[in-house]
Amino acid sequence: MSIPRVVVLASGTGSLLQALIDESSNLNIDIAALISDGEVAACDRARAAGIRVVVHEMQSNRNTWNAGLLKILHDLKPDLIVSAGFMKILDSELVAEFSGRIINTHPALLPDFPGAHAVRDALSAGVRVTGSTIHFVDAGVDTGPVIAQHEIEIRESDSEESLHERIKVEERKLLISVVRDLTQGKVRLVNGEVVKA
Ligand code: GRF
Repeated sequence: MSIPRVVVLASGTGSLLQALIDESSNLNIDIAALISDGEVAACDRARAAGIRVVVHEMQSNRNTWNAGLLKILHDLKPDLIVSAGFMKILDSELVAEFSGRIINTHPALLPDFPGAHAVRDALSAGVRVTGSTIHFVDAGVDTGPVIAQHEIEIRESDSEESLHERIKVEERKLLISVVRDLTQGKVRLVNGEVVKA
C-alpha cells in the first residue's frame, strides 16, 4: 500500500503541524505540503523539515482564491487534508470534493464555542470544562461530524493564552491518534456519519 499523502493547512505557529512532522515516520505518512494563507511561523517549521510550502494569500476576489486553493489541492492529490489552525473558511465546492478526507482541529468541545475565538468564548461563558475537538469538515463553520474530543478543566487562574496552551498539548496527541485511525482505515465518514471499525 502506498504511503498516505497528508496536506496540512495552517495560519499560525504550527505546533500541530510540528507534532505531525515529529510523528510522521511512526504514522507512516508523507506530509506532501503545508498550505498557508500567509508567511507565518508554520511555514518555517515545514521548510525546516524539508516539506513543500505553498503560501496562498487571500485575494480581493474570494472566488478566485477559492478556485486557486482547489487547484493547488488537486495538484497535490492528498489522501487526507488536515486543517490545523487555518483561519479561512473553506468553500463548499472544495469541502464537497474532499468530503471524508478533510479534518479540522478546534480548541473547544463542539458544538460549544464554534468560530475563531473559541478559547476566549469558553472563558467568558464561565464554563468549568472546555477542550479540543477533531471533526470532519462540512460546509458549515466548525459543524462537521465529530471524530474525537478531549476535555480540559478550566482553572481560576487561566488566561486565554494559558488555557489555549494546555488545550494545544492535548490537541497534538488527539490529532496524532485521529490521523493514525484515518490513515489506517479505522475511522471513516459514511453518509455523513463517523464510522469506527
Ligand atoms: C489550535 O488550537 C487549533 O485547534 C486552532 O488553532 C490552533 C493552532 O495552533 N484552530 P498551532 O498554530 O498549531 O500552534
